Amino acid sequence: MTQQNSSGTNDSPLADFLRQQIEKSGGLDFSEFMAQALYHPEFGYYMAARDRIGKGGDFFTSSSVNNLFGRLVARQLAQMAELLADQEFMIVEQGAGEGHLSLDILDALADEFPELYARTVYTLVEVSPDNQQRQACLLDQHSARVLWSNEDDWRIVSGCFLSNELVDAFPVHVLEKHAGVLQEVFVASSGGDFIEELRQPVDKQLSAYFSWLGNGPIEGNRAEANLVAPDWMRQVGSRIERGFAITIDYGYPTQELYAPYRRMGTLMCYQRHQADDNPYLQVGAKDITAHVDFTALQLAGAEVGLETLWFGEQYRFLLGLGFFEELLLLEAAATDEKEARALRLTLKNLIMPEQGMGETFKVLVQSKGVAAPGLLCAREIKDIPGGMS
Ligand SMILES: C[S@@+](CC[C@H](N)C(=O)[O-])C[C@H]1O[C@@H](n2cnc3c(N)ncnc32)[C@H](O)[C@@H]1O
Repeated sequence: MTQQNSSGTNDSPLADFLRQQIEKSGGLDFSEFMAQALYHPEFGYYMAARDRIGKGGDFFTSSSVNNLFGRLVARQLAQMAELLADQEFMIVEQGAGEGHLSLDILDALADEFPELYARTVYTLVEVSPDNQQRQACLLDQHSARVLWSNEDDWRIVSGCFLSNELVDAFPVHVLEKHAGVLQEVFVASSGGDFIEELRQPVDKQLSAYFSWLGNGPIEGNRAEANLVAPDWMRQVGSRIERGFAITIDYGYPTQELYAPYRRMGTLMCYQRHQADDNPYLQVGAKDITAHVDFTALQLAGAEVGLETLWFGEQYRFLLGLGFFEELLLLEAAATDEKEARALRLTLKNLIMPEQGMGETFKVLVQSKGVAAPGLLCAREIKDIPGGMS
């Protein structure tokens, strides 16, 4: 079965490279195509020099909305440091983009927890040289506390691993199920266009993944499988001796990800703040993402000793850490009603369920080798002073 998926040509060195790869191999599975579109060393979306995050880029992230997000995460990190009660507190952040979350966390630690700041080592793990350079510029004032490592070299003796919107950027396989048979989307080329072909039987790795997960795409539906994510989670767990992992991203538990109503999966592209579902046009000029399977992360984490301490929506996480109280303080400090309203609107984005980042965004907090404590982020909404019930 063949589907025509793109019209118009892709005149770019990356598109030429992909067409050559397709010719050589007879077709790329979607994850190979996505890996090159995002991470080709020279032309990939994340590798080439360009503005990706914020107003002048393609998408917003929570840390690009307001520094309150990072300040609240810093509060959770400070409690973790207290629970670990070790000399050095190691924070490792992977996929930090331009480094805004790292900056806001380090600023908050320096301001609110100076003793902890002085014994913090903040390591960034970043695949994109362009982003690494941006991080180094942004974090210049914290250079005594910051270093960079590649994916295979970091280790947390005592501390916390952190990522925000990393896992949704891992390449995914795309599948469909028809007449009870699972088929995989391959990308081929015809007349210069990228086209999709459904192929079967699917690779053994994919069947093994769905058996391990105990779930998968249902009849008639299209869905993704992120095979990189569980391996990544196992790696993260095995690199932590004592400590925590915080994973923030948009996604669902498996059952919701493969729910019958999600007929076309979750693959999305972002360019200049416009979302679309065609990854075959303007390859390399737009971000491609898929929602994260948080059940897979929890299962894989458990295999390497990472225990789930808390999992929930980002709005609950932020409210637990004091979002509401901070908002009241910021509003009180605003010089006029116009400024207060603008602030409310900006911050609303972080917690609003529909258009904002509050509900689709989830937070997973895991621990290893630390007694399960009452985390600050787990504070119930009913316990927030003056908050909602
Ligand atoms: C959507 S951006 C994250 C945004 C950022 N965390 C923020 O809060 O603004 C994804 C980031 O992950 C990086 N990335 C993707 N795969 C990676 C990997 N395997 N190791 C390290 N960084 C990776 C990308 O280069 C990019 O910096």
